[in-house]
Amino acid sequence: MSMKSTVREAASAVKKAMHPDTDADTPDILDTLKKEHEEVKALLSKLEKSDSAPERKKLVQRIKAALVPHTKAEEKVVYDAVIALADKDARIDGHEGYLEHEWASKTLARLESIANAISPEHHATGKVLKDLVEHHIEEEESAVWSDVKENFSDEERRQMNTAFEAAKAKVRIH
Ligand SMILES: [Fe+2]
Ligand SMILES: [Fe+2]
Repeated sequence: MSMKSTVREAASAVKKAMHPDTDADTPDILDTLKKEHEEVKALLSKLEKSDSAPERKKLVQRIKAALVPHTKAEEKVVYDAVIALADKDARIDGHEGYLEHEWASKTLARLESIANAISPEHHATGKVLKDLVEHHIEEEESAVWSDVKENFSDEERRQMNTAFEAAKAKVRIH
């Protein structure tokens, strides 16, 4: 083994000991968020296309199970970190994210309350939720993620991922 790789291994062992939950295998939080964004977008597209009442109801529950833990943990770990920065624009991005989550959550609650899942109202509400979430994801991935990339190191972003997973596990959706 070369001297260089021995040193590198020792350094990573020290780092691992200092941050037991965070090592090189832990993903960057932005990769985790991206994966979850794609999942919820796919569910919303399925809902838009579905004409079966039981399937639409099931999809609404799957969207809720994906959206609620994601948004709550994201607020705690990402938005609160961005709002705590000195940069005013970053703080605005964080507050904007909170507001858009609130609108999505209200629309989701409305969708759940509509008994007839093949009614025009249910379809309309599903479409509005899809538009809201797509718009939100697009803005978040450009504005908030730039703030995160500019202000947090790779290591910090891996730590944020660990915190994000822990926060998500604590969210109750019912
Ligand atoms: Fe997100
Ligand atoms: Fe978000």
